[in-house]
Amino acid sequence: MKQVALITGSSRGIGLATAEALARAGFAVAINGPVEDEELRGAVRRVEALGGAVTAVPFDVGDVRLHSTVLARIEDTLGPLTTLVNNAGVGVLQRGDLLEVTEASWDRCLAINARALFFLSQAFARCLLARERPAGLFHSIVNVTSSNAVAVAVQRAEYCASKAAAAMVSKALAVRLGPENIAVYDVQPGLIATDMTAPVIEMYRQRAAEGLTLIPRVGEPDDMGNIIATLASGKLPYTTGQVISADAGMLVPRF
Ligand SMILES: NC(=O)c1ccc[n+]([C@@H]2O[C@H](COP(=O)([O-])OP(=O)(O)OC[C@H]3O[C@@H](n4cnc5c(N)ncnc54)[C@H](OP(=O)(O)O)[C@@H]3O)[C@@H](O)[C@H]2O)c1
Repeated sequence: MKQVALITGSSRGIGLATAEALARAGFAVAINGPVEDEELRGAVRRVEALGGAVTAVPFDVGDVRLHSTVLARIEDTLGPLTTLVNNAGVGVLQRGDLLEVTEASWDRCLAINARALFFLSQAFARCLLARERPAGLFHSIVNVTSSNAVAVAVQRAEYCASKAAAAMVSKALAVRLGPENIAVYDVQPGLIATDMTAPVIEMYRQRAAEGLTLIPRVGEPDDMGNIIATLASGKLPYTTGQVISADAGMLVPRF
């Protein structure tokens, strides 16, 4: 019996590092990006090189109508799913004054970062509840939200709102799915060096070294991958509904 995971947004960044960490932990993995492109194929090759079973499922997570079909396709290829990592996410269309936020940027953040996460989790949970699940396998949903679920970045208000929504969805899922022995975690990354943060990461490297984070460095995608693989492997037994502040202590209150 094997653990089988879908990691959304795993063609690069935190998602790809998570797919690699899960493959190293023995999971079969389904890799996703919005389209079938060279980046996605490259991600598949990187995970295949680790020796595990892997498949690519290109689809836009925002297209909710596709969710149950995609999950069924993964199960046909890799076997019964045990794990969903909702990682796919988008930033704002333009950083700037909250008074200038557009409906397009608001709708995009909410559609991908919150709505898609909710409905893909719903489809995944329905899929699991429709069958017998071996007691020896750990079943979980890991949602990648953000420090911005709780800490305001006023130049990215719509992103913060979408991540706060996703954090509440994580708690609600934990309440609904706890009795079904499906654990739900909310991983809140702080400052991680990926394409998403490339325009600002050098400034944050400096600020981290000066004390913005308690551990004086920015995070790497592998840091997040290892945290998520630890959670999804059931190595925090008897827990659910927890927030993991994956931020080097950035949000610890202090004066
Ligand atoms: N980096 C940080 O400091 C940080 C901090 C807090 C939270 N996070 C969260 O962590 C998650 C991963 O971030 P990252 O930094 O690794 O971002 P990234 O480097 O921009 O990667 C985002 C991934 O999501 C995919 N994606 C975007 N929209 C999608 C859609 N509609 N359907 C399917 N896949 C989609 C992208 O595919 P394409 O390559 O095809 O676009 C890419 O694989 C996000 O939810 C982000 O909000 C990141």
